[in-house]
Amino acid sequence: MENFAIQVVTVLVGLCVVWLAQFLSKKYMGPTRARGRKKAQARHHFVKGAQALAKSRTCSGKPSEARSLAKEANSEADMAIMLDPLDAACHVLKALALEQQGLFPAALRSMDVALSPEVVKNLTPSEMSDALMKRGGLLLSTSKGRRNLDAAISDFQKSLEITPDNVKVLCMLAVCLEKNRSYAEAEKTYVRALALDPDSDEARSGMARLRP
Ligand SMILES: *[C@@H]1O[C@H](CO)[C@@H](O)[C@H](O)[C@H]1NC(C)=O
Repeated sequence: MENFAIQVVTVLVGLCVVWLAQFLSKKYMGPTRARGRKKAQARHHFVKGAQALAKSRTCSGKPSEARSLAKEANSEADMAIMLDPLDAACHVLKALALEQQGLFPAALRSMDVALSPEVVKNLTPSEMSDALMKRGGLLLSTSKGRRNLDAAISDFQKSLEITPDNVKVLCMLAVCLEKNRSYAEAEKTYVRALALDPDSDEARSGMARLRP
């Protein structure tokens, strides 16, 4: 009788262990695996979107084809974002696809999401520097005159804090400084650009405007 009781207890304990193991694996492994699968699907859409965008940029001679490829890139980016909303690269892709369609204000909003605090963590420093350059450019394309100038200047400055030797960003900043009538600052910035690339057309023509 005692033996039987021990056997029953042993079986029950065994069942409990099996149940506990299943419960824990569902609780902890399930979501991770599902998340991993979602991330993989998001990557897949991201890659398809990036390819469509690259193709769209190469067919400038065929505007309607370029437009439909940019739209395709946009919807792939949307699917990637739905699956993995915190992946900054997907928001950057969406911004670039919208920009390619000439939809600058919408592109700017996507770039704002990419650079928002909870999303931006997933960008490497050099990606972040590029994203800041891109947003600065979009800020300038979405408004004539002064309205976005300060914000654009700030984005270019932050971009240069990460990658100080980017001639393109230096020239974009210098043009903004010219528009801001900060001529001494603009000149210093062109000098920095020319030190890095003496052949830069943008920097040379900027210098020519400031020191005619
Ligand atoms: C832009 O111009 C304003 C007003 O003149 C000035 O206060 C500000 O410092 C300038 N910004 C930069 C980055 O030079």
